[in-house]
Amino acid sequence: MGKGKVDALLGIVFGDEGKGKIVDVFTPRYDIVARFAGGPNAGHTIIFGGKKFVLRSIPSGIFDEGKTNIIGNGCVIAPDLFMQEAKELEQAGYDLKSRLHISRRAHLILPTHRLLDRAYEAAKGKDKVGTTGKGIGPTYSDKASRTGLRVGDILNNFQGKYNMMKARHEQILHDLGFTGYDIRQEERLWMQGIEYMRQFPLTDTEIELGKALKEGKSVLAEGAQGTMLDIDHGTYPFVSSSNTVCGGVCTGLGVAPSSIGEVYGIFKAYSTRVGSGPFPVELLDETGDKIRETGHEYGAVTGRNRRCGWLDLVALRYAIMINGVTQLIMMKSDVLDDFAEIKVCTRYTKDGIVTDEMPYDTEGWNAVYETLPGWQTDLTQMTGESQFPKQLKDYIAFIEQATGTPITIVSVGPDRAQTIER
Ligand code: GDP
Ligand code: IMO
Ligand code: MG
Repeated sequence: MGKGKVDALLGIVFGDEGKGKIVDVFTPRYDIVARFAGGPNAGHTIIFGGKKFVLRSIPSGIFDEGKTNIIGNGCVIAPDLFMQEAKELEQAGYDLKSRLHISRRAHLILPTHRLLDRAYEAAKGKDKVGTTGKGIGPTYSDKASRTGLRVGDILNNFQGKYNMMKARHEQILHDLGFTGYDIRQEERLWMQGIEYMRQFPLTDTEIELGKALKEGKSVLAEGAQGTMLDIDHGTYPFVSSSNTVCGGVCTGLGVAPSSIGEVYGIFKAYSTRVGSGPFPVELLDETGDKIRETGHEYGAVTGRNRRCGWLDLVALRYAIMINGVTQLIMMKSDVLDDFAEIKVCTRYTKDGIVTDEMPYDTEGWNAVYETLPGWQTDLTQMTGESQFPKQLKDYIAFIEQATGTPITIVSVGPDRAQTIER
């Protein structure tokens, strides 16, 4: 953590790597925690003292009372869901209103964006992305089309702008043959959310961050999703709609590339993916089921089964390159406690071609594995690296060697306390 720097903590695979947990662990070391991309498609789980929280739009630094948290301009925000999430935290005793700042440039997710999300997915049929249904794609589309509504619009003749946008969306829905919906109740809640949001500092967060960095303050940028879900670098079109990679920190917060310090790349000791799209390491057998059961791999947002497989070093190396990852964080190591053998994908193959580089089109590629011995030891109570079994040390060394990047944290359980720094 450097003074006057923005460190980035980025999911480097398909999301759900455990970002929320590590941001929570890191927060005491920083002055500001900021989300730069995504919205309520994210579900970041934090567990401490026997309590569990799942955050969607609110940064995971919120549990440290002294720290400022920012929802940056690169994010999209649904006022109704935001209100629900924030009120739950307030009821749990966390005061948010003075220390959660929202960018006026962040875009608003309207109820009709969520309908459009559903309508577009339905129209795609078997090629559907398997989105979270939170209206993410349509909202970022409106942003790119320069027709979006921003948080700052709340402050000035809002109802008129809302009505215009809603009418435009309803026309599209009509053209798609998507009818028979009733969003009156949802809309009422959404408008309550707008009123609720007014109680928060709706600010120019890029200016705030610029000043803070000049004063030598430290910022932690909390990623959402993961590199393989990035709109440019992921498995397009089976991706989310924002830049989840390190470059997104600069655009999504308004900070200069030169202000980026450490780039933490977070991954699980194995792989998961929610939604459709290529996944060369997917295991459709008992091993995949065992990983899912042991790792409780069910979506934090939608409850869907996460697809499971072994670690994919092709994806990891690609993400390390794109993001400039300086340190790796390996999560959920304990989930592999009970496997006699652990496989790692080192290359992909298709039609006699073998590659260790991420192909343009990951569809149809098969994983080529190397097999390592499992440790068959309970890691969950361990408190230091010296207690690690040899097989785990070898697994870590294998990944470090293959990626040329140090693993500086190993997570051995969901609780804050189950975090081992090396
Ligand atoms: P995020 O979206 O990257 O913040 O990750 P999620 O919260 O969606 O998913 C990570 C899940 O793994 C959550 O249920 C966490 O509580 C849990 N978790 C995090 N780290 C560990 C770990 O080291 N071991 C185990 N067993 N669970 C973990
Ligand atoms: P966190 O931050 C895992 C996936 C969806 C779908 C695709 C597009 O918790 O890691 P969207 O609703 O964004 O248009 O869906 O991206 N997806 C995620 N998968 N973790 C996430 O967030 C995700 N956010 C979106 O399942 O395949
Ligand atoms: Mg998640």
